[in-house]
Amino acid sequence: MAKEMILVLDFGGQYNQLIARRVRELSVYSEVRPYTMSLDEIKELAPKGIILTGGPSTVYEDDAPKCSPELFKLGIPVLGICYGAQLMNYLLGGEVKSAPVREYGHTDVNVDTEAKLFKGVLSKTVCWMSHTVYIAKPAPGFRITAHTEVCPVAAAENVEENLYCVQFHPEVVHTVEGTTMLANFVKDVCKCKCDWKMDSFVETSIKEIREKVGSGRVLCALSGGVDSSVAAVLLSKAVGKQLTCVFVDHGLLRKNEGDEVEAVFGPEGPYDLNFIRVNAQERFYSKLAGVEDPETKRKIIGEEFIRVFEEEAKKVGAVDFLVQGTIYPDVIESGLGKSAVIKSHHNVGGLPDYVDFKEIIEPLRLLFKDEVRKAGLELGIPENLVFRQPFPGPGLAIRIIGEVTAEKVKLVQDADAIFRREMQLAGFDKYANQYFVALTNMRSVGCMGDERTYDYACLLRAVTTTDFMTAEAAELPWSLINKVTSRIVNEVKGISRVFYDCTGKPPATIELE
Ligand code: XMP
Repeated sequence: MAKEMILVLDFGGQYNQLIARRVRELSVYSEVRPYTMSLDEIKELAPKGIILTGGPSTVYEDDAPKCSPELFKLGIPVLGICYGAQLMNYLLGGEVKSAPVREYGHTDVNVDTEAKLFKGVLSKTVCWMSHTVYIAKPAPGFRITAHTEVCPVAAAENVEENLYCVQFHPEVVHTVEGTTMLANFVKDVCKCKCDWKMDSFVETSIKEIREKVGSGRVLCALSGGVDSSVAAVLLSKAVGKQLTCVFVDHGLLRKNEGDEVEAVFGPEGPYDLNFIRVNAQERFYSKLAGVEDPETKRKIIGEEFIRVFEEEAKKVGAVDFLVQGTIYPDVIESGLGKSAVIKSHHNVGGLPDYVDFKEIIEPLRLLFKDEVRKAGLELGIPENLVFRQPFPGPGLAIRIIGEVTAEKVKLVQDADAIFRREMQLAGFDKYANQYFVALTNMRSVGCMGDERTYDYACLLRAVTTTDFMTAEAAELPWSLINKVTSRIVNEVKGISRVFYDCTGKPPATIELE
């Protein structure tokens, strides 16, 4: 375990991993753990500071999640955020009440710049609020350090006991000086040295994986995408030849991708992996025949993946662990956290009940995409692989609306290859964080030469995003869209119309299905 860490206790809020991520950005290791963690476990972990997260509950209700009041007597600095702030005050004798109206969104907050958390912050600053319940009276020993027009205690501190609380969310970007506030807590209050780097994550993970795996055999589901490649190389550094990497070509990859993955990870590539390529195209196509519903497609592909792995595992011999490159946004968007289920990603929510392995290892489960990329660079993975745009596990199946057929796969592969190439040539591949072609299920009338056509319409999707949880449609030049359109309709027989998707996320998702 890293020596210097900030423990984030999870009370069910939406932004909990974001808090840990912000702390990691300040070069201090941070992890989210459930609020039910015992005091003994916390003492053993010996964090330099504890952050209590927000959450949807109301503190004075009987079933509200609560930590022990003894937590505040451990001598470890504590920062309560939103629900965490209310809980701290409630447990220590303050008064928490329900307001007649909700305070939500960008809010002007007046702060006392003499307060520990607000050093270097403007006395009037914009913060992100989301609450109805509020602290009417802080607990004894606390001094109010911020207020808004309607919220009497937007922040408070008890410097003697090293306890701090804020009603707003310093971790979200809308709180303009949130990073300064968190830095004040981490550096000045918790006295962290802030010398943690991604290589510490790599080092710690390698150590933990070695301890867990022992002499066991590990099978890694390698897709060639950023996440599973980083997971595979991490595992290979940890357990060497105990690892076998299985790459399933499900026939839903981008054009020529199967061969490209093999070139990097196969015997001719730079890594010393036991690499197995399984060509399972026909198997997946036949399972998908006639299936139109996106979630059913994901489930089928996820299940078939596992079946293929099980078969390969049997061939390899006794396999104890399965590695997956699941990252944090997959976890919350699949509803394993508290947020609502948006899509069941094949590598998380879509796992069948019966899995013939002792355990699944997901070393990147707590990281956001850009953190995975940093870890990849630390591991020496080439930049072109590390900065590759993400590609979903179910592949082109969720970029083909409706039934998947070999013919449609070919259409979308060819059109997508053109779009990607033109994006590169125009230098827009660095600007858009994800871009691809999807095939709509719509066919329309067209004329090519003297002939009437009745072909598919495809759609260009390009987005800018930092975390893939929200995104905006990329502003591509018309000349580029025009060129791609003309190349696709001329070169891909079977597509006669091209659309550009202007929708952001929300309300749309990045993928079409
Ligand atoms: P959405 O479409 O949910 O996409 O806005 C967010 C990010 O997740 C990827 N994605 C998936 N990845 N299995 C995956 O491994 C899936 O089922 C899946 N669905 C979406 C998507 O490409 C984007 O980067």
